[in-house]
Amino acid sequence: MESYLNNRVLIVFFCSFFVLFSCKNEQKIAEEPTKKNVEYDMYQPSEMAGFMNAMYAYNVQLKQQIIAGETSVNMPLDLMKLHSAEMSNGKGRTAVWNSFVNVFIESQQSVADTISNVELKDRFNAAINNCLACHKTECVGPIPKIKKLLIQ
Ligand code: HEC
Repeated sequence: MESYLNNRVLIVFFCSFFVLFSCKNEQKIAEEPTKKNVEYDMYQPSEMAGFMNAMYAYNVQLKQQIIAGETSVNMPLDLMKLHSAEMSNGKGRTAVWNSFVNVFIESQQSVADTISNVELKDRFNAAINNCLACHKTECVGPIPKIKKLLIQ
């Protein structure tokens, strides 16, 4: 009699354990889609977006220096990041991107070139126009903001 009772207790224990266990599993499955939505809604700038913003900030400062009649001799950005940085949503580099990126890098570097005989303002505007050339097809959103960098 005693062992029969013990068995019943054990059976009830195991049954409730399984019920709890399977409930937890069901909850997990139900929670997952909400979790994904939350991640999707959050704005997480990509490595490339972060670098683009750094290039923007650098050129804002460069424009002010040029307008003030100063020359810029150092270019603090590692432009090779354009070749390696990860882009949003796993976007890849398109043929258009590849056709513009090196031309841009050269023009951005030439702004800090102290022995060039091309006017500084023209070199700066050429670099900004190369930002715009790539943006026309690759990322149209920031175009108005980039256009404001041009020195009139
Ligand atoms: C070779 C193509 C190319 C060149 C050159 C280029 N960009 Fe971009 N830019 C992009 C692409 C593509 C994105 C989107 C990146 C992403 O979402 O990961 C972007 C994104 C941006 C953004 C938005 C970043 C954000 O917060 O989402 C800004 C601002 C920007 N670029 C400014 C510039 C400026 C200023 C220059 C020139 C100094 C420049 N870009 C040169 C292709 C280019």
